[in-house]
Amino acid sequence: MTDTSEIAARLRSLLPNAHAPYSGVHVAAAVEGADGRLHYGVNVENAAYPQGLCAEASAISGAVTAGEKALKRVYVASSLPGLIWPCGGCRQKIFEFAADGCEVMSLGPDGEVGRRTIEQLLPLGFRLEPGEGRRA
Ligand code: THU
Repeated sequence: MTDTSEIAARLRSLLPNAHAPYSGVHVAAAVEGADGRLHYGVNVENAAYPQGLCAEASAISGAVTAGEKALKRVYVASSLPGLIWPCGGCRQKIFEFAADGCEVMSLGPDGEVGRRTIEQLLPLGFRLEPGEGRRA
Protein backbone atom coordinates (compact mmCIF):
# COMPACT_ATOMS: atom_id res chain seq x y z
CA MET A 1 0.00 0.00 0.00
CA THR A 2 1.26 3.47 -0.88
CA ASP A 3 1.79 5.75 2.12
CA THR A 4 -1.49 7.44 3.12
CA SER A 5 0.09 10.90 3.30
CA GLU A 6 1.42 10.46 -0.26
CA ILE A 7 -2.06 9.55 -1.46
CA ALA A 8 -3.53 12.51 0.44
CA ALA A 9 -1.04 14.82 -1.28
CA ARG A 10 -1.86 13.33 -4.67
CA LEU A 11 -5.60 13.75 -4.07
CA ARG A 12 -5.08 17.37 -2.96
CA SER A 13 -3.11 18.04 -6.16
CA LEU A 14 -6.07 16.72 -8.21
CA LEU A 15 -8.74 18.86 -6.48
CA PRO A 16 -8.29 21.80 -8.90
CA ASN A 17 -9.12 19.43 -11.78
CA ALA A 18 -12.61 18.73 -10.42
CA HIS A 19 -15.39 20.30 -12.47
CA ALA A 20 -17.63 21.70 -9.74
CA PRO A 21 -18.95 25.10 -10.88
CA TYR A 22 -22.39 24.47 -9.33
CA SER A 23 -21.63 23.23 -5.82
CA GLY A 24 -18.12 24.64 -5.49
CA VAL A 25 -17.15 21.43 -3.68
CA HIS A 26 -14.10 19.81 -5.24
CA VAL A 27 -13.63 16.10 -4.53
CA ALA A 28 -10.88 13.67 -5.54
CA ALA A 29 -10.87 9.92 -4.97
CA ALA A 30 -8.59 6.97 -5.56
CA VAL A 31 -9.44 3.28 -5.55
CA GLU A 32 -6.83 0.61 -4.93
CA GLY A 33 -7.11 -2.66 -6.80
CA ALA A 34 -5.90 -6.14 -5.90
CA ASP A 35 -2.47 -5.45 -7.43
CA GLY A 36 -2.03 -2.24 -5.39
CA ARG A 37 -2.48 0.01 -8.40
CA LEU A 38 -4.34 3.26 -7.77
CA HIS A 39 -7.02 4.64 -10.08
CA TYR A 40 -7.98 8.28 -9.62
CA GLY A 41 -11.09 10.35 -10.26
CA VAL A 42 -12.59 13.77 -9.55
CA ASN A 43 -16.18 14.94 -9.45
CA VAL A 44 -17.51 16.13 -12.80
CA GLU A 45 -20.68 18.21 -12.43
CA ASN A 46 -23.11 19.11 -15.20
CA ALA A 47 -25.56 21.95 -15.87
CA ALA A 48 -28.21 19.21 -15.88
CA TYR A 49 -27.49 18.51 -12.21
CA PRO A 50 -28.38 14.80 -11.97
CA GLN A 51 -25.88 14.06 -14.75
CA GLY A 52 -23.02 15.03 -12.44
CA LEU A 53 -20.52 12.33 -11.48
CA CYS A 54 -18.97 11.86 -8.03
CA ALA A 55 -15.21 11.46 -7.71
CA GLU A 56 -15.59 7.89 -6.42
CA ALA A 57 -17.75 6.90 -9.42
CA SER A 58 -15.20 8.45 -11.74
CA ALA A 59 -12.32 6.52 -10.06
CA ILE A 60 -14.28 3.24 -10.13
CA SER A 61 -14.96 3.74 -13.81
CA GLY A 62 -11.20 4.08 -14.45
CA ALA A 63 -10.46 0.97 -12.39
CA VAL A 64 -13.01 -1.15 -14.22
CA THR A 65 -11.75 0.17 -17.57
CA ALA A 66 -8.26 -0.99 -16.54
CA GLY A 67 -9.65 -4.46 -15.78
CA GLU A 68 -9.80 -4.07 -11.98
CA LYS A 69 -12.95 -5.30 -10.22
CA ALA A 70 -11.74 -6.17 -6.69
CA LEU A 71 -11.22 -3.02 -4.65
CA LYS A 72 -9.19 -3.23 -1.45
CA ARG A 73 -9.40 0.40 -0.50
CA VAL A 74 -11.04 3.68 -1.47
CA TYR A 75 -9.56 7.09 -0.60
CA VAL A 76 -11.44 10.37 -0.69
CA ALA A 77 -10.50 14.02 -0.10
CA SER A 78 -12.35 17.27 -0.68
CA SER A 79 -12.05 21.04 -0.58
CA LEU A 80 -14.32 21.13 2.50
CA PRO A 81 -12.93 21.32 6.02
CA GLY A 82 -12.91 18.00 7.89
CA LEU A 83 -13.69 14.55 6.61
CA ILE A 84 -16.26 13.63 3.96
CA TRP A 85 -17.76 10.21 3.29
CA PRO A 86 -19.15 8.80 0.05
CA CYS A 87 -22.80 9.52 -0.79
CA GLY A 88 -25.33 6.68 -0.66
CA GLY A 89 -25.12 5.99 -4.39
CA CYS A 90 -21.32 5.74 -4.28
CA ARG A 91 -21.47 3.42 -1.26
CA GLN A 92 -23.49 1.07 -3.44
CA LYS A 93 -21.04 1.50 -6.34
CA ILE A 94 -18.11 0.69 -4.04
CA PHE A 95 -20.02 -2.30 -2.60
CA GLU A 96 -20.38 -3.73 -6.11
CA PHE A 97 -16.59 -4.05 -6.46
CA ALA A 98 -15.51 -4.39 -2.82
CA ALA A 99 -13.04 -7.15 -2.03
CA ASP A 100 -13.38 -8.75 1.43
CA GLY A 101 -12.68 -6.15 4.14
CA CYS A 102 -12.63 -3.26 1.67
CA GLU A 103 -12.22 0.01 3.55
CA VAL A 104 -12.85 3.65 2.80
CA MET A 105 -10.28 6.16 4.03
CA SER A 106 -11.29 9.80 4.28
CA LEU A 107 -8.29 12.15 4.14
CA GLY A 108 -8.87 15.62 5.63
CA PRO A 109 -7.10 18.86 4.73
CA ASP A 110 -5.15 18.99 7.99
CA GLY A 111 -3.91 15.42 7.92
CA GLU A 112 -7.00 13.93 9.59
CA VAL A 113 -7.66 10.32 8.61
CA GLY A 114 -10.94 8.46 9.04
CA ARG A 115 -11.45 4.82 8.12
CA ARG A 116 -14.56 2.70 7.86
CA THR A 117 -15.24 -0.61 6.16
CA ILE A 118 -17.75 -0.54 3.33
CA GLU A 119 -19.86 -2.89 5.48
CA GLN A 120 -20.00 -0.16 8.16
CA LEU A 121 -20.96 2.48 5.60
CA LEU A 122 -23.51 0.27 3.82
CA PRO A 123 -24.82 -2.45 6.12
CA LEU A 124 -26.91 -5.12 4.42
CA GLY A 125 -26.00 -3.76 0.97
CA PHE A 126 -27.69 -5.18 -2.08
CA ARG A 127 -25.68 -7.59 -4.22
CA LEU A 128 -26.56 -10.10 -6.92
CA GLU A 129 -24.34 -13.09 -7.49
CA PRO A 130 -23.48 -13.65 -11.16
CA GLY A 131 -26.43 -15.39 -12.81
CA GLU A 132 -28.92 -14.27 -10.15
CA GLY A 133 -31.57 -11.84 -11.24
CA ARG A 134 -31.41 -12.73 -14.92
CA ARG A 135 -34.66 -13.37 -16.71
CA ALA A 136 -35.21 -17.04 -17.53
N1 THU B 1 -19.24 14.48 -4.13
C1 THU B 1 -18.30 13.56 -4.48
O1 THU B 1 -17.73 13.61 -5.58
N2 THU B 1 -17.99 12.60 -3.59
C2 THU B 1 -18.49 12.52 -2.31
O2 THU B 1 -18.08 11.64 -1.56
C3 THU B 1 -19.50 13.47 -1.87
C4 THU B 1 -19.95 14.46 -2.87
C5 THU B 1 -19.52 15.59 -5.07
C6 THU B 1 -20.86 15.56 -5.74
C7 THU B 1 -21.02 17.01 -6.11
O3 THU B 1 -20.31 17.27 -7.32
C8 THU B 1 -20.32 17.77 -4.99
O4 THU B 1 -19.45 16.81 -4.39
C9 THU B 1 -21.25 18.35 -3.94
O5 THU B 1 -22.16 17.41 -3.51
